[in-house]
Amino acid sequence: MTGTVLVTYGSTNGSTAQIAETVAEVLRKDGLTVEARPAQDVTSVAPYDAVVAGAGLYAGRWQKDGRRFLRRHRRALAERPLWLFSSGPLDASASERDIPPVPGVKKAMTALDARDHVTFGGCLGEGARGWVARMILRNGKGGDYRDFTTIEKWATRVADEMRHM
Ligand SMILES: Cc1cc2nc3c(=O)[nH]c(=O)nc-3n(C[C@H](O)[C@H](O)[C@H](O)COP(=O)(O)O)c2cc1C
Repeated sequence: MTGTVLVTYGSTNGSTAQIAETVAEVLRKDGLTVEARPAQDVTSVAPYDAVVAGAGLYAGRWQKDGRRFLRRHRRALAERPLWLFSSGPLDASASERDIPPVPGVKKAMTALDARDHVTFGGCLGEGARGWVARMILRNGKGGDYRDFTTIEKWATRVADEMRHM
């Protein structure tokens, strides 16, 4: 593949943005041309030849900017190679086993013929927005469960697939 790759993300508290930047960096190191953008800033998918999209999980759904991105650009996305990732669990579960996509994302995967989906561990720290977030933190249930080695491994696999396209 010779064109440009879009790595885009829906992130309320910034932790999914860091995952996306890590994925973008791995793809760049592999020689691909990559743009990383928040989902709400993408006006068109037309300039891109492949797309990696991810979002944080909120109440069993993708964060709203991520959801909107998939909906708004569904026609263009269905015509392009697409990889999806979710970020959510605030425990070690994502490191221990494959966590399937939430129902809405599973539907999108099928509709858009996405090549792969992975769930990474999430992160919730001080300063997170919303009273539910503050309640989770007050109950000592926050923390950083992102495994950047796993994230880099997944991105390397995606880069391999892109290079062989
Ligand atoms: C209000 C709220 C609801 C959440 N719901 C879920 C959920 O349904 N499933 C899940 O795995 N994680 C859930 N989480 C954890 C987030 O997905 C996790 O903090 C994620 O890393 C947030 O991404 P962001 O920092 O990019 O916004 C929730 C967190 C908050 C604050």
